[in-house]
Amino acid sequence: MEYQNNNVIPRIGDLAPDFKAMTTTGPMQFSEHIKGSWTILFSHPADFTPVCTTEMTGFALDQKFFDEKNTKLVGLSIDSIHSHIAWVNNVKKNSGILFEFPIIADIDMKVSKMYGMLQPGESETAAVRAVFFIDPKGKIKLIMYYPLNVGRNMDEIKRSLIALQTADQHKVSLPLNWKEGDKVIVSPPKTVAEMLEREASDYEMVDFYLAKRDL
Ligand code: BEZ
Repeated sequence: MEYQNNNVIPRIGDLAPDFKAMTTTGPMQFSEHIKGSWTILFSHPADFTPVCTTEMTGFALDQKFFDEKNTKLVGLSIDSIHSHIAWVNNVKKNSGILFEFPIIADIDMKVSKMYGMLQPGESETAAVRAVFFIDPKGKIKLIMYYPLNVGRNMDEIKRSLIALQTADQHKVSLPLNWKEGDKVIVSPPKTVAEMLEREASDYEMVDFYLAKRDL
């Protein structure tokens, strides 16, 4: 299969590519919709499929968590708006859970290609399971891609969001397996004087370049 470079993967630090799309909550200009809040844009391969149903239900069950974190959820798949509506209705009837967040009907694959969600080695017609974390200035901060046959981990999605918001707010770095409440990493000293100052601090120190503190 010939590789076509019209399926570019945006990078961390890029501005989230803007687009206009039809969604289950009405037409959306993405840049307008996400202005001033954190956003999680996530794709799934297809409506009425089992893994996708568990994932979308997971996002819906955590809607309050994301609201409290000033974070908008935006779903997407390469399906029509009628299919999305029928699926939303079907899940509501089966489980009583309503997907309140908008789901983009990316039937022409425009957004999927823009965000590198269409990965031909995996599928030429279905989006992989992508997750884009976008900050309130519209900048991409973290990207996850999962294949069609493996569902995402909601705990890791929530941990990643809290980590990004914490790092952003407090200008700190976060170590392996960091979770809310854990110590954070202090930026390494830039001068010998700062290094000596650090020795006298109450930081948890492994060495002068690896020190942790409470937030
Ligand atoms: C699923 O959501 O179950 C699924 C969708 C596409 C391919 C494989 C699994």
